[in-house]
Amino acid sequence: MQEQQILGIDVGASGIKGAIIDVSTGELLTERLRLETPKPATPDSMAETVAELTKALDYKGNLIGVGFPAIVKNGKAQTAANIDPSWIGADIEASFGKSTGKKVVALNDADAAGLACVKFGVGKGVKGTLILITIGSGLGSALFTNGRLVHNTEFGHIHMNGMIAEHYASSNTRKKEDLSWEEWGARFNEYLHHIERILSPDLILLGGGASKKFELYDEVIDVNTAVKPAELKNTAGSIGAAYYAWKVAQKKKKKKKK
Ligand code: BGC
Repeated sequence: MQEQQILGIDVGASGIKGAIIDVSTGELLTERLRLETPKPATPDSMAETVAELTKALDYKGNLIGVGFPAIVKNGKAQTAANIDPSWIGADIEASFGKSTGKKVVALNDADAAGLACVKFGVGKGVKGTLILITIGSGLGSALFTNGRLVHNTEFGHIHMNGMIAEHYASSNTRKKEDLSWEEWGARFNEYLHHIERILSPDLILLGGGASKKFELYDEVIDVNTAVKPAELKNTAGSIGAAYYAWKVAQKKKKKKKK
């Protein structure tokens, strides 16, 4: 049982959030704790915050799952759109592993949130193409075909109106340009039309902070695909990260036995 209780950490550009998760049900076993992301958000400063969070949650397990706001390949960050550029090429798993003294498994933050929705939320059992868009400091994406994740899709970085989509339609932009929910919603709707054209999805889920305010811009969304807020909202990233780490650890164990 103990080994199904995994700490999931959702690293974001503004906050680092974590909770201990029962990965067999997706339930939170502790409160969800949030610490401010240090500025500048460098590997060293963030590793310290992650260790602080792990301590504060009194986590006794050995495995931590981390959702990270970048392309993540083999545990390393490949990009750094909303964090310090010194992350590019840096080893997330090694750096957080060293500061916490635990085994860390990392994946993209939106991919982690998507996994939670598909395993435990509104995305469960959805056939065909499902895309989750997380709306926060940036725009994150998680793409699933028949429940299978395609890692690191980064659809927040497609170009539209001569700029990167997340510079046009993220929550950061809404705040920076002081857009009303309707004005921002119209931009986001344009973005969803692009996504629809590229992917012809069967379902679009929305995650991140702005998904909690869906009723404020729901009316201006007119894509043909069904659009739903992901009900796990702010906890999805931590749940999905913990679940993913557990799955990876299980696979490794099985391989060793063979
Ligand atoms: C990053 C993505 C991330 C998204 C949400 C984007 O700026 O490039 O990797 O998933 O923000 O945090």
